[in-house]
Amino acid sequence: MVVAYPRKFQNAIGARDILTQVVRDREIHLITLNRYRYSEQRSCKDLTEIIEQLNGQPPELVRDLSHHISDEARHAMWLTDLLVELGADVGTPPGSSYIDEFERLLDREQKDPSNDLDDFLISTLAAINVTEKRGCEYFSAHIYALKQAPQTEENIKIRETIEKILPEEAGHVRWGNRWLAQLAQKSPEYRQKVEQAKLKYAAIEQAAFEAGMDITLGAELRRVANLLEVANTMPMWQRPQYLMERLPQTLLAPDLQMTRIDAVQRVWKRDPQALMERFVPMFLNGIKGMQNNRQKTTM
Ligand SMILES: [Fe+2]
Ligand SMILES: [Fe+2]
Repeated sequence: MVVAYPRKFQNAIGARDILTQVVRDREIHLITLNRYRYSEQRSCKDLTEIIEQLNGQPPELVRDLSHHISDEARHAMWLTDLLVELGADVGTPPGSSYIDEFERLLDREQKDPSNDLDDFLISTLAAINVTEKRGCEYFSAHIYALKQAPQTEENIKIRETIEKILPEEAGHVRWGNRWLAQLAQKSPEYRQKVEQAKLKYAAIEQAAFEAGMDITLGAELRRVANLLEVANTMPMWQRPQYLMERLPQTLLAPDLQMTRIDAVQRVWKRDPQALMERFVPMFLNGIKGMQNNRQKTTM
């Protein structure tokens, strides 16, 4: 069986490295928690849409999904309570959204159960599964980072909230694995479809994740590289249309420009010296990374 796990950001910076930086800066910490809140809340809407598309079949999956929505709604509730208590913003988070990018990268075949119900189930479950894995990776890294951080009342409250959520997310991953394994057992053809779906949605998730994280120079070009990686997991005849539909937005990336400007403005307003010491090298590293990659590919 293929085990498709989320990769590190640009294969280098891990979730623990990122979260260690995040918890050091209260403003960024609260924005991150609000992004979690937004994702949890949004997943209720997305899972409800899947239930409506399934229209009662299979009933066991409709039942499981309705339990799943109740879990995600509770996570959103815990995070909203926490943020309001801390006096933090609970509006739509600034910058590009991981979920929007994930959805943009999905193809239509995934969105229509009337073509073939089992194909729809395989792609839907593979898509849910890979995002749940990313959630687990982030929440456990966040707990780890908070254990290393100063034990303030606020940090303890945040850790306790995430510690309530993590085991349920791990349960969601196991649930998805069980359903996918069951579908794979139907026939060798099904096994092949499940394996292919896992690879495809892992590539889509990785691309969406990096789009949200990668605000360094050259990000647009790396997004194109990620888009090609997604296309490569598809049958040959589907690739050109998939690419043509997404290439313009990937290259122009208005959401990416907004994230970049927002992040720079934030640091600039608060601490111009930090901008020069931390952000400028980060942008330059983006270029360096691209040059290194180019050297590697031309070698
Ligand atoms: Fe959740
Ligand atoms: Fe979940």
